[in-house]
Amino acid sequence: DKGNHRHFMQKEMFEQPEVLSHTLGAYVNMTDGRTRTPKGQELDFTKVRRIALSACGTGYYAALVGRYYFERYAGIACDLDVASEFRYRESPLSDVDLALFISQSGETADTLASLRYAKSQGLKTAAIVNVPESTIAREADVVLPTLAGPEIGVASTKAFTCQLMALAALAVRAGVDRGVIKADEELEFTRALMEAPRLVNEALHLEGEIEHIARDLATQHHALYLGRGFSYPLALEGALKLKEISYIHAEGYAAGELKHGPIALIDETMQVVVVAPHDRVFEKTVSNMQEVAARGGRILLITDHKGAASGAMDGARLLVLPDMPEILIPIVFAVPLQMLAYHTAVQMGTDVDQPRNLAKSVTVE
Ligand code: M6R
Repeated sequence: DKGNHRHFMQKEMFEQPEVLSHTLGAYVNMTDGRTRTPKGQELDFTKVRRIALSACGTGYYAALVGRYYFERYAGIACDLDVASEFRYRESPLSDVDLALFISQSGETADTLASLRYAKSQGLKTAAIVNVPESTIAREADVVLPTLAGPEIGVASTKAFTCQLMALAALAVRAGVDRGVIKADEELEFTRALMEAPRLVNEALHLEGEIEHIARDLATQHHALYLGRGFSYPLALEGALKLKEISYIHAEGYAAGELKHGPIALIDETMQVVVVAPHDRVFEKTVSNMQEVAARGGRILLITDHKGAASGAMDGARLLVLPDMPEILIPIVFAVPLQMLAYHTAVQMGTDVDQPRNLAKSVTVE
């Protein structure tokens, strides 16, 4: 049932505040603010020095964010592969202490095969899954749930942000286990994570403005998404969302890669979406954006209040989110990217919930 929404995808985007708070409840004890893993799914990160992450599609972009979280908040190095590569790459796993898989459906063939490969190599395995009775959930040593509820739209939205929430809380837990996050800092992190539902709600309020921008985007044939740091995986995810449901050709790039090739594509017909909250790499991304502006590219800058106030945005159309703690950036900035893809697809009249050629769960390789 879509309720009063036009598509499941829209309904699922609007469910995010609620399901994010459910998911957080599985990883944080709400009475004392301490992070934990669910009962019976204990994970001790004390001796974990390296994690191998693997997933497909949007799950892979969640894993990319996960790498930033684990490296930054827990000092744990991460290897990362799309599951279709991991399963065949036969990379030496001798220094990997944990293999972590991410899957909404828990049935994706390549991710399942990767999990089985990791087990055959004697690795401890954990899986972040949304469907608790799925094959991946049954076979992983440790099951880490997302409580997004059933996701019907083929384009993943709420499952993605819940995966990010689980990863953020796990990285904080790992940081505590490894002694790099002190007890009072842990509380600061969990307080920040508790702000996610409110901030996502504020992001959802930008819908009217985004609908307007989407009318323009729907007339374009190409879009380039740029981001750095936490925003780099978001650029990839934003581009994937757009191509999946609107069929507009879109590519995501690390902003710093612009000069190494894609800048050759920039002219008045190239729509560039820049994801740049006012974080430690903001100035760098802005300078890439100015290179796009100088070549006549059409720019949409998705930033926060601080970013918008810092000036130097000549010619860019702005979409402004509230300021927020760094750990929340991936979760909250994902929302306008989802909505932009959604409203562009609606403008174009595509089958949003069942885009052509795609299946919700890819059980063949
Ligand atoms: O169920 P999974 O999370 O394992 O699915 C992985 C991908 O097939 C999935 O994320 C796909 O890329 C989505 N259509 C993205 O919106």
